[in-house]
Amino acid sequence: MLFYENSERKKISQLFIFEIVFLRVKINLPRMYRIIRPLLWTLEPELAHNLAIKLIKFGFLNFYKFDTPLNLEVSVGDLSFPSPVGLAAGFDKNAEIFYELFKIGFGFVEVGTITPVPQTGNPKPRIFRLEEDKGLINRLGFNNIGLLAATQNITKKIDLKRKQKLGVNIGPNKESKDRVRDYIDCLRKVDELADYIAINISSPNTPNLREFENTKIDDLLREIELNKLSKKPIFVKISPDLENKQIASIIESILKFNLDGLILTNTTTTRDSRLKSKFGTQEGGLSGLPLSELSNQKLSFAYSITNGAIPIIGVGGVFSGKDVYEKMKLGANLVQLYTSMVYEGPGLIKNINNEIEMLMNDDGIKNLSEIIGINRKA
Ligand SMILES: Cc1cc2nc3c(=O)[nH]c(=O)nc-3n(C[C@H](O)[C@H](O)[C@H](O)COP(=O)(O)O)c2cc1C
Repeated sequence: MLFYENSERKKISQLFIFEIVFLRVKINLPRMYRIIRPLLWTLEPELAHNLAIKLIKFGFLNFYKFDTPLNLEVSVGDLSFPSPVGLAAGFDKNAEIFYELFKIGFGFVEVGTITPVPQTGNPKPRIFRLEEDKGLINRLGFNNIGLLAATQNITKKIDLKRKQKLGVNIGPNKESKDRVRDYIDCLRKVDELADYIAINISSPNTPNLREFENTKIDDLLREIELNKLSKKPIFVKISPDLENKQIASIIESILKFNLDGLILTNTTTTRDSRLKSKFGTQEGGLSGLPLSELSNQKLSFAYSITNGAIPIIGVGGVFSGKDVYEKMKLGANLVQLYTSMVYEGPGLIKNINNEIEMLMNDDGIKNLSEIIGINRKA
């Protein structure tokens, strides 16, 4: 609080008062976010995010506790996920609140992107709300506390008996002289803590990172295969801005170097002419509803090639149980979201899980594995 401007400090204390009033009278807690959001959104997006992290650390999510229905369980390789719905990378960059997020119905949480040494990222402002479009644009640039501090956070809070799975997303430092080495250093350090590891080669906010999606892919994945310490699954996270033939070639490399899966997609640098918000022209990666169609196209294409040979985590523009169901039918084994939680609040995860269960009942589906890939389009 000491570092905030006076006006920001006033808004923050108003929020705490709101919080206390609601905790005392327990008014309609699931709908609380609808009341809090307008107040939270008077703050600049990154400040609102940092405040949300603080509230979550104080136990704010205890009011949203939710046990996922048993029939939502999904198995991917040797891992069993209590729900196919996970939190995408970037929300809990420093692994500060993943154990709190497990309580609200997520089957898994992916922390990071973590880089070997701490870095501050790009100049602020660097997150923009595209309210009319239900999207966000960010150009954060891997701001994080670094590998050592982040892994200490995980060690402190990890519950070895939990059902939910922890993914750790890793990337290189912007100024690094050897980016492949950065991935390897992170990989070796997070191996024993993570249930799976995500190799992020697709952030648009670290200059030239996406080169790993082109010519340098084999060099990176070969080193990763050589430096694997265990059988923990390694997923490669790719961009929605790739041509289909580039996606095909990344899949070929994943198979060649015996890695385990694909996450698609990261944010897009493309801008659709249908965007309404004045922030639509900001530089950075676009997420949320405007990404949904594009990421679904890429998912469908990837499944048409892999045909289930490697698992896929589908991410981009998921706002409902129907959206999760659709991504699974297009070929996703698991699904992640980020932007919709900013718009709808933590109660969304319970609603999504319940909606998936309803859709399963309507379709007479006993196990979600029955629907994976049944609507593939490409
Ligand atoms: C503010 C913000 C920060 C993000 N940071 C990361 C990150 O550090 N690493 C990463 O792999 N993806 C990051 N992402 C991308 C998300 O993980 C996800 O791939 C993307 O937002 C699409 O999902 P959505 O439409 O549900 O938000 C970030 C997204 C947002 C909105």
